[in-house]
Amino acid sequence: MSITFRGFVEVNMKKTISTFLEAKGKRKLSMLTAYDYSMAKLMDEAEIDSILVGDSLGMVIQGYEDTLSVTMEDIIYHTKCVTRGVKNALVIADMPFMSYQISVYDAVTNAGRLVKEGGATAIKLEGGSSVLEEIRAIVKAQIPVVGHIGLTPQSINAFGGFKVQGKSEEDAKRLIEDAKKIEEAGAFCIVVECVPEELTKIITESVSIPIIGIGAGKYTDGQVLVYQDMLGMFGDFAPKFVKKYANTGEIIKEAIKSYIKEIEEEIFPAKEHTFKINSEIIGKLYGNN
Ligand code: KIV
Repeated sequence: MSITFRGFVEVNMKKTISTFLEAKGKRKLSMLTAYDYSMAKLMDEAEIDSILVGDSLGMVIQGYEDTLSVTMEDIIYHTKCVTRGVKNALVIADMPFMSYQISVYDAVTNAGRLVKEGGATAIKLEGGSSVLEEIRAIVKAQIPVVGHIGLTPQSINAFGGFKVQGKSEEDAKRLIEDAKKIEEAGAFCIVVECVPEELTKIITESVSIPIIGIGAGKYTDGQVLVYQDMLGMFGDFAPKFVKKYANTGEIIKEAIKSYIKEIEEEIFPAKEHTFKINSEIIGKLYGNN
């Protein structure tokens, strides 16, 4: 958001957790994943509300089949890259698999590293009732927490694959209760992934913190997507819930093909891409040979 300052200066507003809390019921929040400086800078300039340094980087950056191999060092490295490119967006760093599941001590220590070393403003962790103690302890350490329920990719082996969650009455009730408990534990926002739209509506209405959906329909307080998916850069698989806003994969491939062709045909580099030197010096250099 931009505001006019004293009638003539445009000032961009830094997004905080208050921005999120105040947006509920008033305007929809936007979130995208990013993992590097250049992309984070573009997103920030486009005035995205929030950037998530997701452990999805295991798949879209590192090429693994799931997110389980991602380490604390990976997330810290990419969070550092992202925060250098961001002036206004709220940067949230994902807690990778096994960085918070073993003990509350680990959870607080690792959340602290994402803030101190990575420069994140908030952290996200997956799970419902099983991670309430961890959420409480991280919030107590003054680190803002985003919950994540529904299809939580770190539980892929327990779920038996990437599947829509909350379809049975029991599972649906559990997700509603999990959202309430995560709010009570002190989280300021919850990501709900791959859940039927009508169930997400009930979840969104059941809590006073914003619900950010991914594959969860339109009755949320905002949306998040993995940027490679929405920009058409990731061809390995395309989830049903992704909308492609551009086909940059094809654009990039075409540009690279042109580059290769112009090298082969000696069109690139042209005069405007080259540096000059005094011809007398060049003459002397030839004379030395
Ligand atoms: O890791 C990630 O990118 C995520 C989003 C898909 C919500 O958790």
